[in-house]
This record gives sequence, structure tokens and C-alpha cells, in this order.
Amino acid sequence: MTVAGAPRPDVNENAPSSLAVACVRALMERHGLPKYRQSAWLADAMGLSYSQAHRRMTGASPWTLEDLAKVAALFGETLADVVAATQPGAAVSGTMNVGPTAMPCRIWLGDEVDRHSAGPVVAIRTSAGWSAIPASEATEDVVYRIEKIEARPADATRKVIAILDDDEDLTNSICAHFDASGYDARPFYKIADLLASAAAQMYDGYVIDWIVGDTSVLKLIAALREKDPKSPIVVLTGQVIAGVVEDYAAAAHNALSAGFDGVQIHAANGYLIDQFLRDGTNLRDDEYGGTVENRLRLLRETAEAVAAVAGPGRTAVRLSPNGEVQGCNDRDPATLFPAAAEMLARIGISFLELREPTPEGTFGKPEWPPIAPAIRARFPGPLVLNSDYGFERAQETLDEGLADAIAFGRLYIANPDLVERFATGAPVAGDDQATWYSQGAEGYIDYPRVEARAA
Ligand SMILES: Cc1cc2nc3c(=O)[nH]c(=O)nc-3n(C[C@H](O)[C@H](O)[C@H](O)COP(=O)(O)O)c2cc1C
Repeated sequence: MTVAGAPRPDVNENAPSSLAVACVRALMERHGLPKYRQSAWLADAMGLSYSQAHRRMTGASPWTLEDLAKVAALFGETLADVVAATQPGAAVSGTMNVGPTAMPCRIWLGDEVDRHSAGPVVAIRTSAGWSAIPASEATEDVVYRIEKIEARPADATRKVIAILDDDEDLTNSICAHFDASGYDARPFYKIADLLASAAAQMYDGYVIDWIVGDTSVLKLIAALREKDPKSPIVVLTGQVIAGVVEDYAAAAHNALSAGFDGVQIHAANGYLIDQFLRDGTNLRDDEYGGTVENRLRLLRETAEAVAAVAGPGRTAVRLSPNGEVQGCNDRDPATLFPAAAEMLARIGISFLELREPTPEGTFGKPEWPPIAPAIRARFPGPLVLNSDYGFERAQETLDEGLADAIAFGRLYIANPDLVERFATGAPVAGDDQATWYSQGAEGYIDYPRVEARAA
């Protein structure tokens, strides 16, 4: 039976362009995979790039029956189950709320009805999803009859996580931490034991050390993926790669879904990508470390993945080439950063921003002369410069052709009408460092505009 006046909730929410997409979406939703993770999951499970997976998930690339069956099998379902679930009469996932207890369940929805004429238990849709509740507790005027309901207590059991480290004490303390957080953590001290166990049973996730014996983590991940193609793997190190690029792509997707016009990748100021770029922090001996090309790899993969989601014209990058920031530095930035710029130009990003402090600057002193001129020579797209600019220096820089735009930080904090002040020659206000990180409105929305000040 279909629900009058309402689309089936598990399918067609985003009007997927084909039945296959509707089936896969509904399958993933049934198994609790949120929309923003679906393309990344598919890429991982099917060995596709993020953009190939995203095209499958949006119906831009076709599905074969074999691929559909493979995805179904990864969730323990058959092709027939998956197709049947999207047909009229399919059930929705929800919770059965009795008093304070919420038990996962499947609900076969009936017609929309007035709550007064519904049976003793009805279904309602809340922002958290579908719920079955006693009709007497419903406050909605219109509720859904329930044709059938099936509890899924297995869904309520604790998630099982495998922890692998050859340091037994560390493994046990990580397990204790996960157990205390509501997971069922299983310790492993040897790779062979973990692989044998993963072949025999499903884990909801893995936490593995970066180095176990002399096996590289990439080899270990590949071996684990043969046993379990889909559960998340977290690597215990500050130098995580697995999943990072997908996370940037998912973040870009989320930002665009939230209405932003574009995404700037933060590859500056000693944060993760900058740590990979510069040889003072990147001590790796794999394909992400050593040569300039290797150290650029994470930035390249991230920029390609974000550009595949947002489009190169809506993807920008920020770099901080000319000195140490947060412990991150390079011995030869004049080689590294122009090479980065050239690589980003090949991807066709919309603009490149450089934060280069001056000797008189307030945010760290430069150890190198500006790298911006060498970067400009290798990057034909728009170049934006930042740090310690006032109006005059900004205009001079533009007039000299050293940049296409200037980005302002603190001046914008202190002058909500900065553009108008520049345009009219009105004086600019200074900022108050004491309120940079205030926890309320102070320092955020209380700097006056020129007219307000004059009034
Ligand atoms: C309060 C405050 C917070 C900042 N937070 C960040 C940050 O999280 N990440 C970052 O890369 N830069 C951060 N910056 C640096 C700015 O992006 C900018 O590079 C810096 O303020 C220099 O530009 P300006 O001289 O125009 O202020 C911050 C600056 C200020 C004043």
C-alpha cells in the first residue's frame, strides 16, 4: 500500500535518475550510511575514484546488474531484496519508542490518517526520522497507520571494533577507552590474527597502528580490504592518509549543499596538508614523502578530489610559503611552492591565496623573502596575497602587477564596512586583540560602521 499524498520516504528523496540509484540509495540508508558518506563509501568498496563513485550515485554513470549485486552483497542483501525494497509497500527504518526506550525497527506504513481515528500505535516522521509511538502520545494532526512493524534488536547491539597494535599495553588501553565509550573493542597484537578474524566475522571498524612490525600500513590496509571492503579503518598516527582525501571531498560536498559558492583548501599555516608539503615535518619514506613531487601528492589528490566535487572554478587553495608556522618549515621553499603552484594551475583551481608575513608583520616573522613573485611566474590564474596589508600597500601591490587581489583579515574584523571605507577614503579602525576569541557577540558584531560612529 502506498502512502497518500507523500512520497515513499526511503526512495526518490533527491529524485535519483535511475532505478539503480534509487535502489542503492535506499539500501545504504537502510544500513545507516548517511548521504554525505555514500559516494566515499562506494569509491572505497568498489575501488573507484571519488568522482567515479559520485557519478554512479547521481546517476550520471550507468550501473551494471553485477555491480548492483556486489553492493547488495556487501550489505548482506540480494539483488532481489534491494530492488523489492524500493517498490510500493516497502518498509522504512525507524525507532519504536516506548517510554524512554527507542528500539530500531522496520515499519510498513499505511495511509495517512487523523490521529484520533488511528490504531493504538502510529508512525510519525520527525527530524530524526520515522518513529512508531502510542497514538495517545502523538501531537501531530496527521499520522500514519502501521501495516506491520518488525523490531531489529540486532541493530541495537554495540558496534564491534578491532584494535591492532604490537604494543600490547597501548592496544589494551585503546580497547579500554573504546569499551568505556560504548563500543565492543577486540584487541589484536599480530597482523595475521587480525586478518584471520576479519575473514571470519564482520567488524564495524578497525583502529590500526601506523607501523606494526615491518609491514607498511598501506600493505596492511590492502590486506584488510580483501577481507572487509567497507568498514572504516582509522590509522593511529598524526600522518593519516587513508580516508583523508575522501573527507575533504565530502566536506566540499557538504559546503556546497549548505549553499556556499566554493571551497578553499587550507594548505597553509602548519595544518595537515602543510605538514605534508614541507620537509621539516614530512619525514615519510613512502610515496607521500621525500621528493617534492611526493610531498605535493596529498595536496594534489585533495585538490583533484575537491575539484571533482565542486568544479575547479569553485576550488581555491591557501598556502603559507615564506617561513615557519606552528613548527612547520621547509629548507627550500623557493623550489617547493612554485612547483605546488604549477601543479595547482594544471588542475585549474579558481585562485591561489598566499599568506606571506612581512618583516614588520604581526603573525610570525618571515625567514625567506616573499616566494609570491616566483609563484606568480608559474601560476597563470588569479593570485591573492594576504598578511599585514593596508589600503595603500594593497593598491601598490596590485598596481605593480604582483597580485590580482588582496585578502584582509584583521581589518575586516574591525571594519564591517571595510570596502566602503576604502572606496570613500574614510579612516579604518584598529582591532582589539583582547576580543578576538571572546565567547559572545563582543568583538564579532559590535565594531561600528562609519555612519554609526558619526551618528
Ligand atoms: C582572530 C584570528 C583568527 C585567525 N584564525 C586563522 C585560522 O584559523 N587559520 C588560518 O589559516 N589563519 C587564521 N588567521 C590568520 C588570517 O587568516 C590572516 O592570514 C592574518 O590575519 C593576516 O592577515 P591580516 O594582516 O589582514 O590580518 C587568523 C587571524 C585572526 C586575527
